[in-house]
Amino acid sequence: MTDQATPKALVLGATGYTGQEVVRELRRRQVATVAHVRPDSARLAAWRDRFTALGATVDTTPWEEAALAAMIAQEKPTVVFALLGTTRKRKKMLAAGGGDPQTATYEAVDYGLTALAIRAAAQVDPAPRFVYLSAVGVSPTAKGEYYQVRARAEADLLASGLPHIIARPSFITGPDREDDRPAERFGAAAIDGALAVIGALGAAKLRDRFSSLTGGELGRALVELALDPGASGVFETPALRQRAS
Ligand SMILES: NC(=O)c1ccc[n+]([C@@H]2O[C@H](COP(=O)([O-])OP(=O)(O)OC[C@H]3O[C@@H](n4cnc5c(N)ncnc54)[C@H](OP(=O)(O)O)[C@@H]3O)[C@@H](O)[C@H]2O)c1
Repeated sequence: MTDQATPKALVLGATGYTGQEVVRELRRRQVATVAHVRPDSARLAAWRDRFTALGATVDTTPWEEAALAAMIAQEKPTVVFALLGTTRKRKKMLAAGGGDPQTATYEAVDYGLTALAIRAAAQVDPAPRFVYLSAVGVSPTAKGEYYQVRARAEADLLASGLPHIIARPSFITGPDREDDRPAERFGAAAIDGALAVIGALGAAKLRDRFSSLTGGELGRALVELALDPGASGVFETPALRQRAS
C-alpha cells in the first residue's frame, strides 16, 4: 500500500515546462521531491542548482530499467510523475548536431521511456502511484504516431496494475515557456480565440475540453491529483482546471 500520509515524489521529465512546475508545486507544498535529470543533460549543473534551490534532490540515474527500478526501490517515492516527451523539432535538432535521431522519436521517448518507467515502478513494493501526462484525443483508434504511442503507454499503465492518474490536457503553453515554440503558442492562442467564439455560441463543453493550460495550472492540477488518495483515472482539461484552482 502506498502511504499517502507522508508523500514523496519522483519527477521524471523534471526539466520540461510541465516538470519544472510540478517540482515547484511539490516543494511549495513541502513534499519531499526527487527531480530526475538525464545524466547526459548539457545543462545538468544548472538544473542541479535550480532544483536544489527549491529544496528538491536531483537524481541522474541512466534510462535503464534495472537502474531506474533500483533507484525507485531506494528512494521509495509514493508517487512517480512521467512528464516526458519529444517533438519533431527536437529530433531534427539532434540530427543536425550529429546525434542519433532515432533516440528522439515518439516511439523512443513518449512511448519507450514512459513504458520503461512504468515497468520499473511496477517492480517496486510498495507500488507508487503513477501520474502520466498524456494528451487530449489519445485513444487506441486515434490516427497519428503521437496519439498511437501515447495510447500504448496508457494501455501499459492500466495493465501494470499501478494506481494511476492519466492527464489528457490540450495545449500546454504560456508566456513563461523557456523554449521557443511559436507554432504551439500561436496555435494555442488561435484555438483559444476560436473556442471563445464557439463557447459563446453554446458549445461550452468543446471549448472547455480543448482550451490551453499554462504549465503552472497543469503543475498545480497534477500535484493536487497526485496527493488526493481518492483521485484515480483519466482527467481532461475541465477537471484539470478545476483541480488547479
Ligand atoms: N506542450 C503541449 O502543448 C502538450 C499538450 C499535451 C500533451 N503534451 C505532452 O506532455 C508532455 C510534457 O510536455 P512539456 O511541454 O512539459 O514538454 P517539454 O517541456 O518538451 O519537456 C519534455 C521532457 O521530456 C524529457 N525528454 C525529452 N526527450 C528525452 C530523452 N531522449 N531522454 C530523456 N528525457 C527526454 C526532457 O528532458 P531534457 O530537458 O533533458 O531534454 C523534458 O524533461 C509531452 O510528452 C507532451 O507531448 C504536451
